[in-house]
Amino acid sequence: MIRSRIAGIGMYVPSHVVTNQDLKKYMDTSDEWIQERTGIQERRYAHRTQETTTTMAVEAARVAIERAGTTPQDIDFIVFATLSPDYYFPGCGVLVQRAMKMKEIGALDVRNQCSGFLYALSVADQFIRTGTYKNILVIGSEKHSFGLDFSTRGRNVSVIFGDGAGAVVLQPTEDPGRGILSTHLHSDGESAEILAMYNPGTHANHWKEETYASFDDAEIGQMFFSHKMIDDGQVFPYMDGPAVFKKAVVKFPEVIMEALHANNLAPSDIRMLIPHQANLRISQFVQHQLRLSDDQVHNNIQKYGNTTAASVPIALCEAWEAGKIKEGDLVCLAAFGSGFTWASALLRW
Ligand code: UT7
Repeated sequence: MIRSRIAGIGMYVPSHVVTNQDLKKYMDTSDEWIQERTGIQERRYAHRTQETTTTMAVEAARVAIERAGTTPQDIDFIVFATLSPDYYFPGCGVLVQRAMKMKEIGALDVRNQCSGFLYALSVADQFIRTGTYKNILVIGSEKHSFGLDFSTRGRNVSVIFGDGAGAVVLQPTEDPGRGILSTHLHSDGESAEILAMYNPGTHANHWKEETYASFDDAEIGQMFFSHKMIDDGQVFPYMDGPAVFKKAVVKFPEVIMEALHANNLAPSDIRMLIPHQANLRISQFVQHQLRLSDDQVHNNIQKYGNTTAASVPIALCEAWEAGKIKEGDLVCLAAFGSGFTWASALLRW
């Protein structure tokens, strides 16, 4: 039976550290508030002009590819997860293909926000299991710092997010003791708008029908992105934090237990849980629910904030580099976020 295994992993975070204290220059907030509510002490921001979601992804990918003992020319498929792409279109996958001088391989972009990396991993896993591809590059990368409301109006969102990238190379294995055991994907679109960036977009929800009807096609064509949206601050992410929090603390344990049940395993079998780094309080709640020890969970939100699609591969890479994950260990990855979408993956390292 063919399974996929993580043959190489890499991460990249920009060198520019932004502390909670630094954010006080722009908005009414405090180190105490941020640490108490989220656990975050600092985050990284990409270089304004020289670093993009793609360039950070390439840095992480180079490390992952080298550690997998392969080369960019051997990669036969890319799956790229981000909510902060270099361009609205095309996606970042093709930009990685170009930057790394890869062959004319397929490049797929995944838009599942905080669960993006797990969705991407799951897609790649299917291609490996079916024997379609042998070296898949899976990336999660984000440059949030370019699209946040740094005024007090946006403080509940802006203080949380940071920039960075993580990447893995998936390869096939026939070793029954290794690889991705299963992945589990979910969504509930009922709450799509409570954690979202509405614009630019084609929804037109904010136009009353009668107003909308008075415009001709050319005028409508310019509403995709308008001065009004900028003036009203509608071009930044919106989040009803408490509502997200309430759902996250239910869905995280649920999807982790689903993965364990699917493999006849229990929380005590987990060597390392890598939760998406949304909020340290959420991770601690999940740890408590599953009765996991501190050694069984890796958190790094304190240093990097929430890097959305990049958070799981960054935390996984860091835990592995620190020697917290060894061959044969059972590792659980889990994420919850905008959509809502949530997911888990269980793997033997
Ligand atoms: O990864 C994507 C998924 N996202 C999440 O999982 C996020 C889940 N939610 C959360 O992590 C929390 O809801 C937040 C950290 C975002 C917010 O914490 P909270 O304890 O839910 O605070 P709140 O939004 O209920 O706001 C409480 C107060 C409000 O003031 P009033 O109305 O009580 O006077 C906010 O205006 O805190 C205020 N506030 C802030 N104060 C200082 C909101 N943001 C800030 C801030 N600094 N940065």
